[in-house]
Amino acid sequence: MEQTFIMIKPDGVQRGLVGEIISRFEKKGFYLKGLKLMAVERSFAEKHYADLSSKPFFPGLVEYIISGPVVAMVWEGKNVVVTGRKIIGATNPAESAPGTIRGDFAIEIGRNVIHGSDSIESARKEIALWFPEGIANWESNLHPWIYE
Ligand code: GTP
Ligand code: MG
Repeated sequence: MEQTFIMIKPDGVQRGLVGEIISRFEKKGFYLKGLKLMAVERSFAEKHYADLSSKPFFPGLVEYIISGPVVAMVWEGKNVVVTGRKIIGATNPAESAPGTIRGDFAIEIGRNVIHGSDSIESARKEIALWFPEGIANWESNLHPWIYE
């Protein structure tokens, strides 16, 4: 099944939003397949956001991501990449709908609490980068109650 990489950024960890965020993905019906708290080095953060390296906000973005520990996760489910981005909300919290994570818990674009892969291809690359050791292999017994 489709997988995505979700990261709770340092502000989300510091503000005690880890449980709330995990709960939203769980309640939706997605399966947690990888989870770890880690502090990443500058070069690692630069690699994760390499596609944005030419942007003026890139140095600030890297400083933000290395400012404290993050929670790295792999979530699995039908259309989880696109639906995960909907649960997260628009990049700029000023434009994120209420009910989304950024709409409910963030104000500024540079403190927007959470990252989600933007495509199946990015998800594949990001899962390989963040979980080189691999992820858990388990199946939920709830599957027939979530999928028809
Ligand atoms: P991620 O899930 O974190 O990748 O966000 P996104 O896919 O919604 O947006 P994008 O990949 O374009 O940008 C990555 C991150 O850079 C955003 O989540 C913001 O934290 C930051 N960012 C993007 N655009 C801006 C900007 O114009 N100004 C500032 N300060 N930060 C930005
Ligand atoms: Mg992005």
